[in-house]
Amino acid sequence: MYEDRIRCAALRGKITTAKEAAQLVRNGMRVGASGFTRAGDTKAVPIELARRAREEKEPLRITLMTGASLGHDVDRLLTEAGVLERRLPFQVDTTLRKAINRGEVMFVDQHLSETVEMLRANLLGKLDLAIIEAAAITESGGIVPTTSVGNSASFAILAEKVIVEINLAQPLGLEGLHDIWIPGRRPHREPLPIMSPEDRVGSFTIDIPPEKIAAIVITDQPDSPSTVLPADEETARIAGHLIEFLKHEVKHGRMNAQLPPLQAGIGTIANAVLSGFVDSPFEALTMYSEVLQDSTFDLIDAGKMVFASGASMTLSATRQEQVLSELDRYRDKLVLRPQEVSNHPEVIRRLGLIALNTALECDIYGNVNSTHVGGTHMMNGIGGSGDFSRNASCAIFATKAIAKDGCISSIVPMVPHVDHNEHDVDVIVTEQGLADLRGLAPRERATLIIDHCTHPLYRDVLRDYYRDALKHGGQTPHDLANVFAMHLRYNATGSMLPEGAVGNVANA
Ligand code: COA
Repeated sequence: MYEDRIRCAALRGKITTAKEAAQLVRNGMRVGASGFTRAGDTKAVPIELARRAREEKEPLRITLMTGASLGHDVDRLLTEAGVLERRLPFQVDTTLRKAINRGEVMFVDQHLSETVEMLRANLLGKLDLAIIEAAAITESGGIVPTTSVGNSASFAILAEKVIVEINLAQPLGLEGLHDIWIPGRRPHREPLPIMSPEDRVGSFTIDIPPEKIAAIVITDQPDSPSTVLPADEETARIAGHLIEFLKHEVKHGRMNAQLPPLQAGIGTIANAVLSGFVDSPFEALTMYSEVLQDSTFDLIDAGKMVFASGASMTLSATRQEQVLSELDRYRDKLVLRPQEVSNHPEVIRRLGLIALNTALECDIYGNVNSTHVGGTHMMNGIGGSGDFSRNASCAIFATKAIAKDGCISSIVPMVPHVDHNEHDVDVIVTEQGLADLRGLAPRERATLIIDHCTHPLYRDVLRDYYRDALKHGGQTPHDLANVFAMHLRYNATGSMLPEGAVGNVANA
């Protein structure tokens, strides 16, 4: 049984049901599970845990660490069953988000490159169990990951025991796509020898002593498809501004025609903007990113991209089916790595990446809030955006200039929560235009951001604010009494627009 999937014969005796395997999880444990932005997540054991807590009324509260967000409603089911005590480092689930914002689940919002680094340094406690999805286990017990590597390798290495979910819906052809490199202990760690996105520096499999594998569960379900929406008029305009900016950089000799390797964050905007590169003049593009979305494959198919390195492939249902059935077509153009390698500051700085991430809101001086709605309520988490933007050669943040039908301006006087500070943000782009902040002082930035990036509905509101702020002087002038007036007005009235302001999105 399953000879092709479990090639280490001694391990075939470990095959069991999800219910039996889930018995290894006990109250109070720290569990590391595979899964990165819905790709390569475990599909049976966590769901069984939720059932057990719900139906058997067993006290079961755990710390759950993953690569990033999960599919298959796992975060919702675990939240509803009250299983999640602590969750890190990222999530996108609406039920979990509400529980986090009610203070019921302690969410540790982390740079994605840092979770296993902290585990290794014993800053997060001992990892009791790893649950890892695999396409196969090799003759020597090596675990072949599926559509993500994420934190799986270090979870398996650091955990006391490992449960492997062999997913028959993930093709065996995935073997060979991964490059598993694990850093040594600090302070005598060797350099990470990646000099180009296509460099392979590790092994194809996650290598652990086979006796650590305590149970194997067979599953047969594809990844949950990505939820990104197609490009719209605004995202197409954002892409247009960015392409013009990059052409300008090439013309002035600051970038070559191939462009530095690209990183693009999660979500609809980043995916749509990247797809816009299909119609750009750039050729032989490469990616050194964390999530490879549909847009990566659009660019490869269009002959525009020659290589993409990531930590996961998170695709729409049709793209997933097509890519997984035609893996041989993409094999020499793809590699999936651990997220501490895909997001490694050393490599990002060395390769001089162009990093494109999305903001909830930006302020007039270039500080960016990517995570906290209204400064208090968690949206998703910082993800890898900080890993990339802090170290990229060009850190770009994109956002639509308004949200919620114009009731929210994405450009505000001061962001009420800072994920990316003015020192790390090089470019802000909205559908209205682009502000290149490099080498500018705060006062120069403010004028540029207000003139180029704000929606016409809010341009005068922000100009008035800035004029008043200038009266207070300073390197970074602010009128502290009114700095959050737009946010307070939104909380009070449901709109950031001043009372009596005429206009809406349609006639702006
Ligand atoms: N205040 C409140 N809500 C806002 C907002 C603001 N200033 N700006 C946007 N929103 C809302 C939108 O209305 C939308 O709400 P909806 O889901 O109810 O329609 C939602 O936020 C998503 O915004 P959207 O404009 O569709 O962009 P997106 O899908 O690209 O997501 C982020 C934007 C910022 C939420 C998302 O990119 C994110 O979580 N980023 C942080 C992690 C990250 O950058 N990772 C990158 C490395 S992988």
